[in-house]
Amino acid sequence: MSGAPARTAIAASVLSADFVALGEAVRAAERGGADRVHVDVMDGHFVPPITVGPMVVEALRRATRLPIDVHLMVEHPERHLEAFARAGAATITVHVEAAVHVHRALGEIRALGLQAGVALNPGTPAEAVAALADVADGALVMSVNPGYAGQAFIPSVLPKIGRLRALLPGLAWVGLDGGVSPATAPAAVAAGADVLVAASAIFQAPEGIEAAVARLRAAAGA
Ligand code: DX5
Ligand code: ZN
Repeated sequence: MSGAPARTAIAASVLSADFVALGEAVRAAERGGADRVHVDVMDGHFVPPITVGPMVVEALRRATRLPIDVHLMVEHPERHLEAFARAGAATITVHVEAAVHVHRALGEIRALGLQAGVALNPGTPAEAVAALADVADGALVMSVNPGYAGQAFIPSVLPKIGRLRALLPGLAWVGLDGGVSPATAPAAVAAGADVLVAASAIFQAPEGIEAAVARLRAAAGA
């Protein structure tokens, strides 16, 4: 580690993008300075909606140079790891509430050569992932109940970021996902988040995608 503070990464979540023009939407986020692309995979069981699978990740892989983070909101995530790795994901994040054998799932993600993340719903305490120190590269703190874009930010989750860093000091990143906007980003960064995931604040912004990424970055002070 160098002494310089790490820059906050902006992850553009395509959940709110226009899927007719997905490639162009992601390229606009890249031009605006986004660091990563975030893909929300939902199965209609762990969360009510159904979204997209490895085919869309594979298409995005050809549309952008940015690393693609796959956020699995699915039951039995271990069944899908290899397909998302083959599609070109850089990280796969599984929910601690969804995987019975979450330690094994994280180990499998690493064995596929990817970064392994563990996500926590707003109602899940940091202690739920305390035993995963040897297999988790990152943690994703949900600041909404997962399932939909455009929900209101839940500020009471913010102290969880510090608790996670204390419990798992080797984490390479802690992300915050849900309701992230220029209004909420400063508190997220102050709480220690180093990846900010945003969908509607980027892809539904009236000022356009490029300007929205820049505005979010400025608000994050990064
Ligand atoms: C929520 C998803 C988020 C979502 C965020 O279920 O995991 O990644 O895309 O959407 P916004 O930024 O609009 O709250
Ligand atoms: Zn997400």
